[in-house]
Formats: sequence, structure tokens, C-alpha cells
Amino acid sequence: MSVKLNAKYIKDFVSDAALEVIRPEVEAAHEALNNGTGKGNDFLGWLSLPRDYDKAEFAEIKKAAKKIQKDSEVLVVVGIGGSYLGARAAIEFIKSQNYNLLKKGVPEIYFAGNTISSDSLNELVEIIGDRDFSVNIISKSGTTTEPAVAFRILREMLESKYGKEGAAERIYATTDRAKGTLKSLSDKEGYKTFVVPDDVGGRYSVLTAVGLLPIAVAGIDVDAIMKGAQDAMADCAEKDISKNDCYKYAAYRNLLYRDGKKVEMMVSYEPAYTMMNEWFKQLFGESEGKDGKGIFPASAIFSTDLHSMGQYIQQGERQLFETVVVFDKPKTEVEIKEEAANFDGLNFLAGKTLSYVNRKAFEGTVLAHSDGDVPNIVLEVEKMDEYNLGYLIYFLEKACAVSGYVLGVNPFDQPGVESYKKNMFALLGKPGYEDRKAELEARLN
Ligand code: PA5
Repeated sequence: MSVKLNAKYIKDFVSDAALEVIRPEVEAAHEALNNGTGKGNDFLGWLSLPRDYDKAEFAEIKKAAKKIQKDSEVLVVVGIGGSYLGARAAIEFIKSQNYNLLKKGVPEIYFAGNTISSDSLNELVEIIGDRDFSVNIISKSGTTTEPAVAFRILREMLESKYGKEGAAERIYATTDRAKGTLKSLSDKEGYKTFVVPDDVGGRYSVLTAVGLLPIAVAGIDVDAIMKGAQDAMADCAEKDISKNDCYKYAAYRNLLYRDGKKVEMMVSYEPAYTMMNEWFKQLFGESEGKDGKGIFPASAIFSTDLHSMGQYIQQGERQLFETVVVFDKPKTEVEIKEEAANFDGLNFLAGKTLSYVNRKAFEGTVLAHSDGDVPNIVLEVEKMDEYNLGYLIYFLEKACAVSGYVLGVNPFDQPGVESYKKNMFALLGKPGYEDRKAELEARLN
């Protein structure tokens, strides 16, 4: 497997006997997923997506990406949650957090509609300036407030700059195949549309047009991502937990949870992994956090956060475990040179690379945290390239689904997300919410 679970540091916390106890539950989850008999079984499209994805649409995605690269200096990707995080995570994982500063021959890419902050939107308008730009509006439902509001403003900008027809050639809508406000508007205005398949929920949708169009615009090899996901699909299909690190990860998480470890901190030593952490938090948080249950997903980038969160992790309340994603090789290397004066006393590192020092930081930390009663699951990945990204995405998605079934929840719904929306609509005076508005205002005043 390209993502390998190193169980060395978890052994002191979870015994092989405990793994045997949970094995039948994991196997039952495997069967439920494969046979489509589990909760939320109308949202299993992601399971075979790496093999069964729409090849014609995939070609259209590449074509649209080329057009955007040619006619736009900036692409604004409008979406929130599952319609936002995957694309950004992938671009930063493969390229950099500084993609917009480092990009060569491809458009800058900004994300909007993931907040309701006016400052953030005004800033984006300023960044775009008078440059040529396109918009990829992504919303499965087509009705989510945050992206809808941002899109209204950006559409107006496009129309006043290029005219209605010119704007239509620069708007790409990724939404439901047939229904929803965005689909109707796109059909009416003649926007190019891409599909979020019915049976793929937002947080499992990065390997559809939702993620792939922005990723392709960034000049990233989407074929290699799909190849990695295909291989993960084959490797993670093995029922036997001892031969399937994806299932083993799901098993360890649940065993730790049952043992009072209620918070999982996903950790990487690469800042380019920051948005993958955010994607992971949505994937697992939205999938498992329901029915009064679920591991709380948190994240950190080390060694950066060892200087802010390190104290708590080492000695705070003992409800934590860590899942550390380590990469064998960095994308680039830096060598530390010998210095005659040795004022900083660092000559003991002369000739060493920064990745070697980073590795030692990981090794020292994993042992320290284990000593501090923080179990560490380690996921080893060779490098941060497209293939391994595709593999990792599928590995984590499947681990999440299996984990959710073992926990006894529906990992494919998110009923709780509606509560804030209903209150917000009521308070904003949306027709149909009058009763709730009066009740909420009485509570607020
Ligand atoms: O995972 C999910 O379903 C959510 O995070 C959605 O992706 C998010 O709420 C955006 O929804 P939509 O794509 O319908 O605008």
C-alpha cells in the first residue's frame, strides 16, 4: 500500500487482542459498504469513483482547464465545505501554500464563498483588479448562502467587464446534473456545467469535477491523482484487517475512542499539508460527529505548533491521540553548511539536510508524546506528489466510512449543519421562517 500504517508507536496503547475484538465489526462495515446495505447507502458513489468516473466529463474538465489557463490570469473558485476544501487542499499539497506567488504560466487561484466576510470579498475584488478572470461556482445543492452571495457579486463583476455573453464564457458551474437553482441559472445563461454526482456527498467529492477542475487549472496532473486513487481502491478493498492498513486505521481510531481518546489530532511536518488537515477535519467531523458520538478531529503542523500546542499535547488532559502523516522525501532539499565561526553552535548539523532534521523532530516528538500518554498512529507516504495524493484521499475517505459504520453512525449525512442555516434564514427574514424569527429574536433580546 502507498499509505503504510506504522503501528510501532500504538502497540503500547492498543493490543493485538483488542484488534481481534474489533475485527468482526470492521468486517461487517466492509460488507455493508460493499453490498450497499449500511446507513446512507444512496451516497456510495465515491467508493468506485476512481474506476467508474465519467471519462467524457473528465476530458471536458481538462479542456475547460486549458481554456481558463489561456484566457484568465485569475480563477476564483466559489464554494464552501465539501465544495471548497478538497480543491484547495490538493493544490496546496502538490504545489504550495504560496501557490499564487510561485505559480508559473498558470492562473492565480483564489477561493471565495467560504465565508460571509465583506472584508474578505472586497480584498479579493482588489486582488483581481482589472485582470482577466473566470469563476468556477461549485454548489451541489445550488442554494448554499455563502457561495450564492459571493457568486452574485462576482457574476455582476464579470458581466460589467465582459458583457452578459462574455461573462457566460467565463463562468463554470459545478452542480447537480438536473436540479437546483444553479443548474437552472446555468442552463438559462449558457454557462458550462460540470456534475456533482447524486450519489457522492460534498465531503467525498474531491475526485469529481468539484475538485478536479480547479486542480487541473493549477497545472496539476489529474490523471496521476486518479491513478493513485484507483490503486488505493484496489488495495483498500481487502477485507482482512491485517492486510489492509486503511481498515487497521479505522480499527485503531475506534479502539482509542472507546478507551477515552476522544480527540484525534491529524499532524504533518509539512506546512503544505495544512489544508489537507482542514479537508480531513470536515471529512471525519461531519461524517462521525452525530448521535452524541464521534471523535473530535483537530489538526496541527509540527514542528510549528509544538511551540504553541506542544505543552498541552504533552501534559494537558489525556483525551488525545495523534495521527501523523509522514513523507519519506521532501519535494526539495536544503543542506546545512559548516560555518567556521560556529557562533550558533550548529556545526553538529553541518552536512545534514533540513529533511533529516525534520525527521529527527518527528522521531523525538513521537517518543515524547507516547511517553506523555498520547498514542500515535503513523501513516507513512513516500512523497507529496499527485499519485500519493490520490491514494491518500481515497484511503482517508474509505477509512472514514468504515470508521463511521463501526461507530454506528451514518457517515454520509449531515443533518446538524441545517440548524444554523435555519436560524440565519429566520433572522435575515427569509420568507417561510416567520415563526422561528419571532422566537429567536425573543431569545436574543
Ligand atoms: O459535505 C457536505 O455536504 C457539505 O460540506 C457541503 O459540501 C457544503 O455545505 C456545501 O454544499 P453545496 O455544495 O450544496 O453548496
